[in-house]
Amino acid sequence: MPTGKRPTLDDATRGRLLFGGDYNPEQWPEETWHEDVRLMRDARVNSVTLGVFSWSKLEPRPGAREFGWLDRLMDLMHDNGIGVVLATPTASPPPWMGHLHPDTLPVDQDGRTEWWGGRQHFSHSSATYRRYAAAITEDLAARYGDHPALTMWHINNEYCTYDWSDEAAARFRHWLRNRYGTLDALNEAWGTAFWSQGYGDWAEIHTPRHAHYLKNPTQVLDFRRFTSDMLLECYAAERDIVRRATPHLPVTTNFMPLWSGQDAWRWAEEEDVVSVDLYPDPRDPLGAQSGALVQDMTRSQARGPWMLMEQAAGPVNWRGVNHPKPRGLNRLWSLQAVARGADAVCYFQWRQSRQGAEKFHSGMVSHAGEEGRTYREVKQLGADLARIGAEVTGRHTAGDIAILHDWHAWWAGAQDGRPSGEVDHPDVLRAWYRALWEAHLATDFAHPEHDLTAYRLVVVPQLYALTDAAIDNLRAYVHGGGTLVCGFLTGVADEDDRVRPGGMDARLRELFGIRTLHEWWPLEREETVETDGFRGTLWSEEIEESADASVEAAYMGGELDGLPAVLRRGRAWYVSTLPEPAALRGLLARVAADAGVRPVLDGLPDGVEAVRRGDLLFVLNHGREPVTVQVPGTHTDLLTGATVTDTVALGRYGVAVLRP
Ligand code: GAL
Repeated sequence: MPTGKRPTLDDATRGRLLFGGDYNPEQWPEETWHEDVRLMRDARVNSVTLGVFSWSKLEPRPGAREFGWLDRLMDLMHDNGIGVVLATPTASPPPWMGHLHPDTLPVDQDGRTEWWGGRQHFSHSSATYRRYAAAITEDLAARYGDHPALTMWHINNEYCTYDWSDEAAARFRHWLRNRYGTLDALNEAWGTAFWSQGYGDWAEIHTPRHAHYLKNPTQVLDFRRFTSDMLLECYAAERDIVRRATPHLPVTTNFMPLWSGQDAWRWAEEEDVVSVDLYPDPRDPLGAQSGALVQDMTRSQARGPWMLMEQAAGPVNWRGVNHPKPRGLNRLWSLQAVARGADAVCYFQWRQSRQGAEKFHSGMVSHAGEEGRTYREVKQLGADLARIGAEVTGRHTAGDIAILHDWHAWWAGAQDGRPSGEVDHPDVLRAWYRALWEAHLATDFAHPEHDLTAYRLVVVPQLYALTDAAIDNLRAYVHGGGTLVCGFLTGVADEDDRVRPGGMDARLRELFGIRTLHEWWPLEREETVETDGFRGTLWSEEIEESADASVEAAYMGGELDGLPAVLRRGRAWYVSTLPEPAALRGLLARVAADAGVRPVLDGLPDGVEAVRRGDLLFVLNHGREPVTVQVPGTHTDLLTGATVTDTVALGRYGVAVLRP
């Protein structure tokens, strides 16, 4: 770990909001670059990310370097006052690499090689790949480290690959030796007494490849941990190279939202700037909520300002049906990210490609060009961001409630051979988040072992596996006066995916007032279960309460008639089903009120969101109908300069940024 104070996003923003995106000028003749710059300036673009997929252009033959085109671009950007986030191009190796060095190609669990011709065809475990990646990174850092346009480094792109190859297996063994020390410890952790899986030699251990029937779940869990760690090693190696050359510049790599392959808590500690790519579906009625969830999570990982590294100005090209963004939605969702602490609003990509796999993915300049609605709206947004930038940066968003999330719990709980294949961890998380969002409660995310004492309310939608430290943390939190609400399938297993005695950790059962957990009664997809207050979905449980617990809702009818659905012991609540949306919202609003947590603003109409960033109040209308919102007091709307007293009128997808 490096020592000393690391640069932050503030060093790149310097009191402005960054606005721009991935710029792939190598796809265009040089005349177009000059038009690009004119349009960028008109739209107040102040930051572009260069080089993300430029490896074959920079190194057309092994060891060759073609920097001339990038030199000209760096100068062009600088001459026009546009900062450059320079990417290492290591997400897409040139064809010669796979051709000359097949060991750089990843292999899937069925033994099939992932060939070049797409992207991300690199094995995180390949020594050859790592050597080439380090060399090009060294040379980029040496050549551009002092360039005045350079503001930040962007390592690779969306680290998301897997590899089951022999070279990965060798590294997996090494990783396992570090984790367990001895084979006995590994056999114990993996429960290899089951199905005759005991290992007698490290060489017998492989990556969890295609198997006849269910795989060893702890082996699979460790493989996911290993994969996240290998990718992190690749990232850290490149990061350390650019840090040595430019210790004053921040380094980032872009996360995918709620991506299962990376322990983002762990990764965020290794970044100077946390950034994320976010693509809610414009047609999704819950698009605003799903975006907000990722924004809150990213801010919490960053513990401060963060970067929206990529979004789409219009349609993407990777859904079954790809919808454009209706007028105003791009601005609304961009300002929503700013409200939640983003100091950068960027896109994939600047100019929509005419060739290649993403030619039908939008850009800030669409195929319709300068006259197109997409660019016109981008230009308007650029002006908005320039207007509010100085006021917004330096002010911070903070939630009143912590939602706990952990990748290891997700990985452990997402295995085959579990009680219900219908339970999808991200879906459960989204359902709980939605309830809090609709109740207008401001949320952060936290890891189950984080210090939670600053929060009056902690919400655990689902943490299937918990370490002893996490369990102790939750208990200490409640005993210290905090309120905890916890959903089903929490605390079932330990970090080796070994079921805790009693089917749920005894300390947690005591905390929630669960005397015995007899059976889980998972529900079919469309099935519901009645309680005396609401209808539950997805899951139900046969539990018996202890004498000091109170039953807040009970199942009605069926096998579970009269048994607790929602249980409470003091300030600890347990919800053994997934209440329908309005019911979960009502429940969480009630618990929040009891815990002394207030909504961001009272009396907000449905579909209107209020977010505080410092003393600024962002009010966002996610609906197409105009609304009038009560905002007691006198404010200035930073977007219009108008004085707003007690009420603000917002049109379709309208936004106000109110300063007291
Ligand atoms: C991201 C990726 C970009 C582009 C974009 C399309 O996952 O980083 O390069 O492919 O998706 O939505």
